[in-house]
Amino acid sequence: MSHAQNPVMEALIARRSGNARALAAPGPDARAVEAIIFAASRAPDHGRLVPFRFLQIAEAARPRLADLLEAASLELDPALPRPEVERAREKADQGPVIFAVIARIEADHPKIPASDQWLAVGAALENMLLAIQSLGFAAAIRSGKFLETTAMRGGFGLAANEHVVSLVAIGSPVEWPPEKPKPALDRVFGVWNG
Ligand SMILES: Cc1cc2nc3c(=O)[nH]c(=O)nc-3n(C[C@H](O)[C@H](O)[C@H](O)COP(=O)(O)O)c2cc1C
Repeated sequence: MSHAQNPVMEALIARRSGNARALAAPGPDARAVEAIIFAASRAPDHGRLVPFRFLQIAEAARPRLADLLEAASLELDPALPRPEVERAREKADQGPVIFAVIARIEADHPKIPASDQWLAVGAALENMLLAIQSLGFAAAIRSGKFLETTAMRGGFGLAANEHVVSLVAIGSPVEWPPEKPKPALDRVFGVWNG
């Protein structure tokens, strides 16, 4: 691939997800966390509504997060077998640093469509991932229906127009998962001839 000598292009192309179960200490320290959030907040943002915010899970709050994850999994399926409940709880333990990415979407904004706001949140997430990896760490995104449960929403004190869109576990990669297949250029690019 040409442009491989360009460090920004290299970082863009090299971005990949880490394995949430293989994220060791050290994670990013306070200065690195600030740099990562700063990079995330530079995302393109139509109307500058700032439709994103980020919470770092405090170390002392991990057991509380595990309880919320358990409550969320049981809210979705009250008959969930215990081992799967435990697997849900484990997300609170993965990675020396965990962020919650929160979207705040003004669905009835007179000018800026909700889809633009969601895209800004996605752009912020991507900036965050690129910053994390460029600082030598790996990140694993965790999302799913559990994020929209009343347990999680209540636990995070969300406003009605807010959504936890993902938990991002960050740490030093002990191992990387196999690289995921990526689409060929001709699948994602063409010329519109009118
Ligand atoms: C919004 C969002 C949510 C995601 N949620 C999960 C998840 O719950 N579990 C997971 O293993 N990966 C999750 N991922 C990561 C994708 O699975 C991953 O990016 C994809 O497999 C491509 O792999 P790569 O990141 O290594 O290129 C999520 C990614 C995005 C953008």
